[in-house]
Amino acid sequence: MNITFCCANTRVGPWLADLRLALPQANVTEWHPGAPQADHAVVWAPPQQFIDEQPGLKALFNIGAGVDALLRLKLPPAARVVRLDDAGMSVQMAEYVCHAVIRHFREFDAYEADVAQGQWSYRKPRLRADFPVGVLGLGVLGERVARALAQFDFPVHGWSRTPKSIDGVICHAGPQAFDSFLASCRVLVNLLPLTPETRDILNRETLSRLRPQAYLINVARGDHLVEEDLLALLESGHMAGATLDVFRTEPLPAQHGFWKHPKITVTPHTSARTLREESIAQIAGKILAFERGEPIAGVVDPVRGY
Ligand code: NAP
Ligand code: GLV
Repeated sequence: MNITFCCANTRVGPWLADLRLALPQANVTEWHPGAPQADHAVVWAPPQQFIDEQPGLKALFNIGAGVDALLRLKLPPAARVVRLDDAGMSVQMAEYVCHAVIRHFREFDAYEADVAQGQWSYRKPRLRADFPVGVLGLGVLGERVARALAQFDFPVHGWSRTPKSIDGVICHAGPQAFDSFLASCRVLVNLLPLTPETRDILNRETLSRLRPQAYLINVARGDHLVEEDLLALLESGHMAGATLDVFRTEPLPAQHGFWKHPKITVTPHTSARTLREESIAQIAGKILAFERGEPIAGVVDPVRGY
């Protein structure tokens, strides 16, 4: 069995070594133009040339949860696209989002600023009931995040395409429920996949439906957010702030207004990192199951886009 590895922005050596250890029966090599045909590919944002030169691939294993960069390419029609299914990401995402929500709710940023000025000051405790949190997307990551927030006694709402039932979470589903979902929330967490239906979903109109003094946490994709609409709503005071991990252009350009905006916290697409060990164990298990003709989890529906 031949496995080709083609991952942008990834340290190739350790991945190849660990894949070879996990799949000793396979021939695992880094892809280069003109490389021989492989059976399976391990990929992150490969170029179209890679796909064009590998028409016989049975499956492409994406080393991330989001497959938007892969689905932009013209893929071999018979090849399956398989996403990472948690692989250590959901706990990281829960940590990141809970940290951002609590930092905002408890005003820890304001306390840090006071302490920097040598001020011993108190703020009036705020009510959790005034900070209902909405989670867009209740998949592998969104469900874990929604459950974690509910553990801190925040009122939690979630929105997905199909109906869900999650303890401690008020679940809304489908476009008809979108406006009432938004109107219920003051803090909005985005964990949707990037698809034609969800691109630009965080815009002036949708963010305006949130409760006043709203707060946005975008941890999904930069193309979900119309960046200038957020800036306008921060300016108007409707939005109190935002924590942003993903951007339309990454790395975030040096001159971008988000870097120094007093109401925006920026992190460099790091909320849930791909963990090599967990990811390779999962991918190797799936390749072996696939070769035995068994069903595997995380196969992407190319029509749905996730
Ligand atoms: P997932 O398991 O595929 O879950 C996607 C969720 O979104 C599902 O609940 C789905 O609804 C819902 N959804 C999709 N399209 C929708 C629509 N049009 N309307 C309403 N709901 C819709 O994905 P995941 O593993 O949770 O990951 C989510 C995204 O997080 C990834 O696609 C990626 O972009 C991002 N991500 C970011 C980082 C980072 O470090 N910043 C790391 C990992 C992932 P159904 O359940 O009804 O299908
Ligand atoms: C990271 O952004 C991922 O999709 O895994």
